Amino acid sequence: MNYEVNEQGQLMIGGFTAEELADHYGTPLYVYDVEKIRANAKAFVQTFKNHGIPAQVAYASKAFSSIAMLQVASNEGLSLDVVSQGELHTALEAGFPVERIHMHGNNKSINELEMAVEADIGCIVLDNFYEIELLGAILREKNKYMDVLLRVTPGISAHTHDYILTGQEDSKFGFDLSSGQAEKAFLEVSKHDHIVMKGLHCHIGSQIFETSGFEMAAEKLFEALVDWKKRFGYTADVLNLGGGFGIQYTKDDDPLELNEYVKALIQALDGLTKKASYPMPEIWIEPGRSIVGEAGVTIYTVGSIKEIPGVRTYVSVDGGMTDNLRPALYNAKYEAVLANKMNEKKHQKYSIAGKCCESGDMLIWDVELPKVEHEDLLAVFSTGAYGYSMANNYNRFQKAAVVFVENGEHHLVVRRESYKEMTRHDLTYEPLKGVIQ
Ligand code: LLP
Repeated sequence: MNYEVNEQGQLMIGGFTAEELADHYGTPLYVYDVEKIRANAKAFVQTFKNHGIPAQVAYASKAFSSIAMLQVASNEGLSLDVVSQGELHTALEAGFPVERIHMHGNNKSINELEMAVEADIGCIVLDNFYEIELLGAILREKNKYMDVLLRVTPGISAHTHDYILTGQEDSKFGFDLSSGQAEKAFLEVSKHDHIVMKGLHCHIGSQIFETSGFEMAAEKLFEALVDWKKRFGYTADVLNLGGGFGIQYTKDDDPLELNEYVKALIQALDGLTKKASYPMPEIWIEPGRSIVGEAGVTIYTVGSIKEIPGVRTYVSVDGGMTDNLRPALYNAKYEAVLANKMNEKKHQKYSIAGKCCESGDMLIWDVELPKVEHEDLLAVFSTGAYGYSMANNYNRFQKAAVVFVENGEHHLVVRRESYKEMTRHDLTYEPLKGVIQ
C-alpha cells in the first residue's frame, strides 16, 4: 500500500498525522485524501480526452455519497450515477449539474421516476418492462422528454464475488440480450414518443482486474446494435459499459492503472466500430470503487485485547461492521497498520474485531502488527468505497464522521451521528391498557 510516514513513525494522511485527526474528530473516523480522489477522476476523464473520444465518466455514487463528495465529483467534470431518490436528493442538494445525472435501479418507484423527470436529469437507465410503461406514462402526462439507455445483461461472468456479479443472464438487473428480451424492450421503447432511446448499458460486475470482460461485453452490446441498425435503422449515440474497475485492498490485489482500463475500452470499441462501419458512440463508464476506494482510510482506537495463548490475540477496535460491512458480508480482505507505531518492528499476528455483538464482526484476521496496546490507533486502508455508504446502526452504534484532507487542510464533511439523531424517528408508544398485563 502507498502511504507516508513522518520521522516520528506516524502515519500521515494528506499532510496530517492520523493521531492529529483522531484527536480532533474522534474515532472511528473515515479520512479521505481528496487529492487521490481527484487524481483517480482525472485518470479516467483525461484518458478519454487524450484519445479525443467523447465520453461521460459517471461516478457511481453508491460507493460513497455525501454532499462534499458530489461537489468534488462535479468539480472534476464527472457525471453521476444515482440509484435511488436518496442519492438523487443528495446530488440535487450538492448542486450537481442535473444534465449529468443518470438514474439506475431495478425497481424504480413511481416517485423516483417522477422526481427524476421533474428534476430534468440527463438520463434514465431503463431496467424492466414495467418501468418503460411507468416512465412513458409520466412523461406523457408531464409532456416531457427523457433520454434513456436500456440496461442489458450480456451474459458475461466477471471473476469476482458472487454477490457482486451482475452481468450474467440470470440476474435481477436488466434485459437479457440472447433471448431477445432486449430487442423486445427496444421495440417497446420506440412506441413511446417521449422516451428518447440513446443506447445500451451494461455492468458486468465489481472489483474486476482484467480488461477482457469489458471487451467481451462491448462486443456483445455492439453485435446487438449492428443488428438493430440493419433491421430497424437505429443508430445508438451512447454505449455505457458500467463500472467495476478493481482496486488494491491488499498486496494480493494487482489492479491495472485506471487509464489502462479506459485505453482497452477505447481500443475495443474503435476496432468494433471500424469493422462494422458504425459511427463511434459516446462511451460512458460508471466507476465507483476506483474513484474513492483507495482514497479512504478508517482510523480506529484500540480498546480491549484478548489473548488466547497458543490460539490467537483478538484486538477490539471502536468500530467494525457498522462502519465497514464488507468483511462480514463478502469476506473482504483489508490491510491495516498501527498508525502511531509505523517504525516499530512487527511483533505478532493479531485479529481485529469490531464492537458488535456478533462473532462475524471481524475486520481482519491475522494481520501482522507491532506490539498492540490499548489506545493505539489502527488504520485500515482502502475503505473509501462502500464503507460509509453501507454503514449502519446495528447495536445502535453511531455512524462515524467523515473528514476530507486536501491542500494542507482538513475539513469535516459528515458529522458524527449523535444519539439524539439516532432516536429522532422513534415515537413513544402507550401500551394498550387493560388488555394484557
Ligand atoms: N454501475 C452499476 C450499474 C453498478 O451496479 C455498480 C455497482 C457500479 C456502476 C459501480 O461499480 P464499482 O465501480 O464501484 O465496482 N457493495 C459492494 C459493491 C456493489 C456494487 C454494486 N454496483 C462492495 O462493497 O463491494
